[in-house]
Amino acid sequence: MIARSLSLEDHLERILFDQTTIRTRIAEMGAQITSDFSDGGELTVVAVLQGGILFLADLVREIRLPVRMDSVSVASYHGERQSSGRVDFHQRDLPDIDGRDVIVVDDILDSGRTLSAVMGRLREERNPRTLRSAVLLSKKVPRAAPIHVDYVGFEVEDEFVVGYGLDYRGEYRNLSMIGVLKHEWIERTS
Ligand code: IMP
Ligand code: MG
Repeated sequence: MIARSLSLEDHLERILFDQTTIRTRIAEMGAQITSDFSDGGELTVVAVLQGGILFLADLVREIRLPVRMDSVSVASYHGERQSSGRVDFHQRDLPDIDGRDVIVVDDILDSGRTLSAVMGRLREERNPRTLRSAVLLSKKVPRAAPIHVDYVGFEVEDEFVVGYGLDYRGEYRNLSMIGVLKHEWIERTS
């Protein structure tokens, strides 16, 4: 557990994107999605829990179309700074998206394994009319799994970031900005 005496922001070495920058970019993404789906269809936005939930909450409010929301619960990092390489699904039933236009949203694209596994299962076990994906951040790293992402908020270098849904050992998701943790907080909590 992290110390309560300091403001969470003080745990950051650097801020990469502040709240205004994030909201402005999400508004642009919402406008793009609104225009892409304005010719009809039934849109469902599916968050990859837990990290994708803050992005989903802001994104759907920028989409000027009727939208349903759903989620899938997976873990690959298990709270650590390195991906385990395994994607575990925590729920038995996948969202009911048959015949719908679906956008799967996650906080960050790293190796690509998470999104690739989620999209793969939805494609194989459900029957969406269309299936797209959106991530707030995309790391500039070679992907371990084949993946095409339709909507990307920002590109980031290959470093571990927290905030706005992104966690370190389950915490920092509630930071309103995205940044890089100070080493002392990583060492202290490991
Ligand atoms: P991938 O499966 O390697 O693409 O990783 C995607 C998942 O790993 C995301 O849903 C995040 O939960 C987590 N992740 C990847 N990079 C970071 C990071 O820098 N900070 C926090 N979580 C991360
Ligand atoms: Mg995640």
